[in-house]
Amino acid sequence: MSRIDSLVAAMTLTEKLGQMTMATGDSAVTGAVMRTGLDAGIASGAIGNVLNIAGADKARAAQRLALESRLKIPLLLGLDIIHGHRTIFPIPLGETAAFDPLLWEATAREAAKEGAADGLHMTFAPMLDVARDPRWGRIAEGSGEDPYVGQAMARAKVKGFQGGRLDGADTLAACAKHYCAYGAPTAGRDYATTDVTPRALREIYLPPFEAALNAGVATVMPAFSSIDGIPLSAHRGLLKDYLRGKLGFDGVIVSDYNAIAELIHHGVAADVVEAAALALKAGIDIDMMANAYHDGLPAALQRGLVTMTDIDTAVRRVLRLKEQLGLFDDPYRRGGVESATVLAARRQLAREAATRSIVLLKNDGAALPLAEGRLAVIGPLADAAGDMRGCWSAAGVASDCVSALAGLRFALPHQSILYAPGVDIESDDESGIAAGAALCDEADAILLCLGESAAMSGEACSRAHPGLPGKQAALVDAVLARAGGKKVIAILFSGRPLVVPDLVARVDAVLAAWAPGCEAGNALADLLTGRASPSARTPVSWPRAVGQIPVFFGERPTGRPASSADHYTSKYLDVPNEPLFPFGHGLTYGDFAYTGLQATPDRAAEADGFTVSVTLTNQGPRAAGETVFLFTRDKVASISRPMELKGFSRITLQPGESGTVSFSLAARDLRFPGPDLEPLYEPGEIEILAGPSADRARLLSATVRLV
Ligand code: NOJ
Repeated sequence: MSRIDSLVAAMTLTEKLGQMTMATGDSAVTGAVMRTGLDAGIASGAIGNVLNIAGADKARAAQRLALESRLKIPLLLGLDIIHGHRTIFPIPLGETAAFDPLLWEATAREAAKEGAADGLHMTFAPMLDVARDPRWGRIAEGSGEDPYVGQAMARAKVKGFQGGRLDGADTLAACAKHYCAYGAPTAGRDYATTDVTPRALREIYLPPFEAALNAGVATVMPAFSSIDGIPLSAHRGLLKDYLRGKLGFDGVIVSDYNAIAELIHHGVAADVVEAAALALKAGIDIDMMANAYHDGLPAALQRGLVTMTDIDTAVRRVLRLKEQLGLFDDPYRRGGVESATVLAARRQLAREAATRSIVLLKNDGAALPLAEGRLAVIGPLADAAGDMRGCWSAAGVASDCVSALAGLRFALPHQSILYAPGVDIESDDESGIAAGAALCDEADAILLCLGESAAMSGEACSRAHPGLPGKQAALVDAVLARAGGKKVIAILFSGRPLVVPDLVARVDAVLAAWAPGCEAGNALADLLTGRASPSARTPVSWPRAVGQIPVFFGERPTGRPASSADHYTSKYLDVPNEPLFPFGHGLTYGDFAYTGLQATPDRAAEADGFTVSVTLTNQGPRAAGETVFLFTRDKVASISRPMELKGFSRITLQPGESGTVSFSLAARDLRFPGPDLEPLYEPGEIEILAGPSADRARLLSATVRLV
């Protein structure tokens, strides 16, 4: 008999439910704590999995308790290691802006090593929810608006966290979350219901999850939300039939925090018994924090709502995950002290990731890099080390983080750098504005450090006005009124694109820094001084008005394309249709000309493909890295097609240097979900577009034919 068979045969119902229960260790709590008596629960076998334990000692102590239980089944310990554990990398949305899957993988690998050294086995990441609504605070946790990017991110993160083999002492089981369409809540309000079409699921929201599955992700977490009236935690169609049935996922499905009990609030379960039965029947193996399996499944068994086979199937999956993680062989294999060299290299990676995540949105008159001279650094985020961590900062501590001010002072030790916060991030206090603005008189250039605190994005952080909070706009007014002709550079820290068109119009340069992580200030100093060239691109369209939301490049064509000459066309009366900055926008200190787009051959059958190449020349005075995007559009299809991202690649060129970027494009990848939502290959003309962003006016175009 296998180890799992013997264990299942020996288990009591309480012990089985214990393996299906995850309780909190209380290091980070995002909802009501429903269960007390953690230690007793572990020791009795009634709790088999724990989240939110931070620290190798605590992890070891908890594990020891589990190994003293009757069946000595090791605990599974998980934490939200979203963008670094102790060493905090940029928030996922920021890191996406680097458009480099190798970097995405490298930061996940390092985060896994650091988390594993802290005794952890599992992370609740990556978040794969495509998000097109900056009101939604969790846009910070994902890779933005595009499903192709989401797929690339899914592959990179799963590979990075899981490191090729789950039983490695430095790996974590990854969790593809939140399955699915959680990123499209009504009006951007977290946890709100989602109404998306089956086609939108197939084209936009499911592909990143499919990519994670293909990369071997160990676990999946269903979303809190409902689709079409069915909460994901009870969605048999999407969990059991599609994820498990059609996609063949047989790993662990872990519920979100208290989500099974919340089926009662959703109005699909009358009590915890029904809630537990619905979740189990849908395929959820572990109940995180609702205690619903523990409280509800015994009665559900009696009522005939579930069978012991349903329970055993879930238990087996959990035990198998523990086995795959190597926990039965050596439950203490994770946990240890890392060397100073390893930690230093990780910090260096954090600096590189931060540098490559910060997007130069605007740079009029070459305001950046900074010329020599006195600097006034003004704003509530200038010296906000802790906020550099952004949302979900696991074991990250504020004192490890370098603020913008500290980074600049370190980089420019001989330069006069004046500083005033001016205002708080959020309060109504205007008393510091005059003193802040007065610094302009003594400076040659002004850096405004503005935006959101770390706590203003992430879970439960929807904002109806995703602009500058508090009195920051008043500070901007006062500074601009006093700046004279001096260069004013705005650095925006945020977990989302901020809707700040007036600010952008009035300053000389704008950097979207997101939350850059622990090396924020050093990375910013590298970019501001010109030691590094910005190369990041926004992975999400920046709206010019809240009323445009959702605004994204992959919109389907309309029968009435916008035309200023025709009133009855698809447009606003008061703002352009285009976002302020399109997907992919980002300037560098170089100046790249694109020429000679070629797609060969000019026709291909389904089994074949194309090579697309484009030549770039850096006409600017500085070396820089440029990201090139490849889009396609099926001109005439049975289902109206949007412009679709099919590739991105980066090239670094010296001043005056030219280089060619090439993409392989398989004809099969030009299929789309047909009328029955199955992949459909349709012969016809495909437009090939390549360039620096999704701004059509800047894309070179060629045509190929599918035969
Ligand atoms: C709730 C969040 O939705 C989820 O992403 C997270 O993993 C859990 N809480 C655990 O912290």
